[in-house]
Order: sequence, then C-alpha cells, then structure tokens
Amino acid sequence: MKERLEALRTEALKELEDVQNPQQLNDLRVKYLGKKGALTEILRGMGGLSAEERPVIGQVGNEVRAAIETVIEEKQAVFLQAETEGRLRAETIDVSLPGKQLPAGAVHPLNKVAQEIEDVFIGMGYTIAEGPEVETDFYNFEALNLPKDHPARDMQDSFYITDEILMRTHTSPVQIRTMKAMNGQTPVKVICPGKVYRRDDDDATHSFQFNQIEGLVIGPDIRMSDLKGTLLQFAQEMFGKQTQIRLRPSFFPFTEPSAEVDVTCAQCGGHGCRMCKQTGWLEILGCGMVHPRVLEMGGYDPNEVSGFAFGMGVERIALLKYEIDDIRHFYTNDLRFLSQFVRM
Ligand code: PHE
Repeated sequence: MKERLEALRTEALKELEDVQNPQQLNDLRVKYLGKKGALTEILRGMGGLSAEERPVIGQVGNEVRAAIETVIEEKQAVFLQAETEGRLRAETIDVSLPGKQLPAGAVHPLNKVAQEIEDVFIGMGYTIAEGPEVETDFYNFEALNLPKDHPARDMQDSFYITDEILMRTHTSPVQIRTMKAMNGQTPVKVICPGKVYRRDDDDATHSFQFNQIEGLVIGPDIRMSDLKGTLLQFAQEMFGKQTQIRLRPSFFPFTEPSAEVDVTCAQCGGHGCRMCKQTGWLEILGCGMVHPRVLEMGGYDPNEVSGFAFGMGVERIALLKYEIDDIRHFYTNDLRFLSQFVRM
C-alpha cells in the first residue's frame, strides 16, 4: 500500500508539472485529492491493515497529500499572479493617447455682433432697456407721432393680431416705455435690443423677423453734435479707427431733424467697390433728434429737455462687418456657416 501511495505521488507530481491552466489544475486536484479521488480510493483500503501498519500508512498518506497540495498551491499562486498581471496590463490607461474631441458650441454670430454693439454703448455709460415683442398700436405707432392713417405707417408693413395689437415693427416703442418709466427724470441713456417683425418677403436682404438695437438719450441740453459724436465713436469701435461717418437728411415721424448714417466702406477704404456699389459708403442706421411731440407723449417738456435717438439692424451691421452676402445664413443654422465664427 505504501508503494501505491508513493507511485500515486510520483504520478501526480509529474502530471502537475505540465499543467497549463487553472481549469486543468482543478481537474487534477479532484482527480487525486477529491472525495472520489485516487488518494481517498487507496486510503479506503486502510481498514484491512493491522494496528501497527495503520499509523505508518496513515502518515505516508498524509505526506503524499501534503506534497500534492503544496504543488497545487504553488501552481495556483503562479496562475493567480499571471492573471493579475494580465488584468493590470489590459487595464493600463495610456495617458498619451489623444482624447475624444467633443464638438464645442459657440455664440451665434448675430448674438456676438449684438453683444459687441451693446458693449460699445455700455462703455459710453448706456444701460439696457427691453420691451415686449407683442406691442400695442399706441406704443408702436401712435406715441411715436404716427397716428392712424399716417402714410409713414406704410414704411413698416405690420403683422396685426387685433386692430390694436401687433408684433412690434421696430424697437422704438421701448423709447416710449422707457420715458414713461423714467417719469420725466433725466438723464435717459439707454439702448434697447430686441426682435422686430415686418411683413416682408424673405430674400437676401430682408427677413420677416430681424433684430434691432435702439438708442435713446434725453437730457437738458442734448444736441445733434452729441448724436454725431456718439455715432462716430460707435462706428470707429465697430468697424475700425479709420472709419468716417456721414449723415444724410432723411425722414422719420418720431425724429426731427432725421438722418440716415453711412460709414466709409471698410472693404475699399472709401474708394468704391462692389460691396459699397462704388459709392465708398455703407448705410448703417437711422437717427435724429427726438420729435417734440414724442417727448411730450413720453412725459417730458420739449422746452426743458431735448434728446436724440437712433435705430440699427443687427443683421445689417453683421452683414457689413463680416462681408456676408445673404441674411438668410443667420437663420438656417448651417454649421458650415456658423463654425466660421467659432474663434472670432
Ligand atoms: N425705428 C426706425 C426704423 O426701424 C429707426 C430709427 C430709430 C430712426 C430711432 C430714428 C430714430 O426704421
């Protein structure tokens, strides 16, 4: 029996030598040490041994078991280490790999230009005032010296909701709202940005909805020269230090006198090119001295105070500044267009 045990040890150790994986190792453990394994099988015959032989064989049995177990444990440790190493290798993070690029959003060019315009005026001490886009006929027209049936209402084809309510056609109603809110106090110095609506057919230069920025200044002694100086400052900050402006006489019911303002074409420096249709000038806004009747309707005494106002289209300024040929680019959200402004 002792020989069988020794033979079992030799066989087991030999087989264990070239075990390849944990599965094989486990199979061998079952085969040799399991409840129905070879060692148990042999030791089961101990019942037939004499009392002297039994402890001797028992001890040999234990030695054989211990020897096999030791090798199994060693092998197990080796497999475990290999597995850990493999896992660590698989989990290694290569910090030098390039990261995943997520597309970054950017401020829309129209908002960017509007912010730039606002910044210029905020720098001159203006504050921002806002008003509703759905406006009453009174604020949009009447209080701006445009009574019902005034022919100048045709300049701004309107979307009416009822007889008295419409989508505002310009930001000028915010002038009246601001004056009323100020309760006759001076100085008033605001810009009013916002969306406006007109019944125009959309094309390269028209849109039924666009953005304006209005300006209004009221004080005891506001003059046309203040208006001119303000607009020159604005034009130079917006289009470059070399920019000049000119005022052409014009008409708005809410200003008197009224003017349209041109800037020298930045493209050709005023010599004439395709952009400025060979004139050297580009129209950017309308303006004038606040009409006495408008001051009155806003709660001011035209004998005590005076003021100037101006209104410009943000789209128009953006078209000129970035030499964009079609206003519809601003609304169609084509990324090929928008992405050109990401870093500007
Ligand atoms: N509200 C005018 C328009 O939309 C612009 C303007 C504003 C003109 C203020 C003069 C003074 O055409």
